[in-house]
Amino acid sequence: MNIHSELKKITTHTLQKMKEAGEKISMITAYDFSFAKLFDQAGIEIILVGDSASNVMAGHETTLPITLEQMIYHAQSVVRGIERCLVVVDLPFGSYQGNSKEALNSAIRVMKETGGHSVKLEGGEEVVESVKRIVGTGIPVMGHLGLTPQSIYKFGTYTVRAREEAEAAKLKRDALLLQEAGCFALVLEKIPALLAKEVTESLHIPTIGIGAGGNCDGQVLVMHDMLGINTEFKPRFLRQYLNLSVQINMAVKQYITDIKSKDFPSEKEQY
Ligand code: KIV
Repeated sequence: MNIHSELKKITTHTLQKMKEAGEKISMITAYDFSFAKLFDQAGIEIILVGDSASNVMAGHETTLPITLEQMIYHAQSVVRGIERCLVVVDLPFGSYQGNSKEALNSAIRVMKETGGHSVKLEGGEEVVESVKRIVGTGIPVMGHLGLTPQSIYKFGTYTVRAREEAEAAKLKRDALLLQEAGCFALVLEKIPALLAKEVTESLHIPTIGIGAGGNCDGQVLVMHDMLGINTEFKPRFLRQYLNLSVQINMAVKQYITDIKSKDFPSEKEQY
């Protein structure tokens, strides 16, 4: 029996207990009602309404264009689909970087308008004041360090972060600062596995890795990548569990054939 099998809803407290018990945490992105329902029913602990919606739902090259209104729409749809898991909603680029009051206002909008359970924002020292202010109002915050896609124009590339000593040292400091500021968990994206292990062991809050090795307290993948809907993105860290793009292509081709050949609808499929 695992640590939360008797509990109805996953909370930040459940995640803390899971870390303490050494039970790994599962997290996946979702952006709509139907997939959120499927993932919740499958037993996922956390659904992230990621700003990756900007890429996989809206077709933008980066996460920068998505707006707070659009994130709220996705989060509302996800929350309608779930009964048990914890919903984390990304604060999009431009909705929190201005100052801590702006960050708080955006977090409050997400909580009031979506029914989500927490927010996530990217960055270390620079967002600590905002994290404190949001957590101070009772809103749980997840941090995000390493490859932070909202800063892609600063990095210039999506390659592994913090390979160099100076960046690794800053990441370790930032992780501790975010924990002190009150974050309930941290995403560590695309950093060396050894660094992620060190950070995970130095914190009492859980770390959730994506391309950060097996020693994080949990793992997250973007649903379109792990289900094989998006086939152009094949980084080394990705495990693809389905090949949905091929199956969908075959199904729709068959549907077209059946319509053209007048096989569909049959007598049994009409009134
Ligand atoms: O937006 C997102 O999907 C994310 C994950 C990659 C962690 O932030």
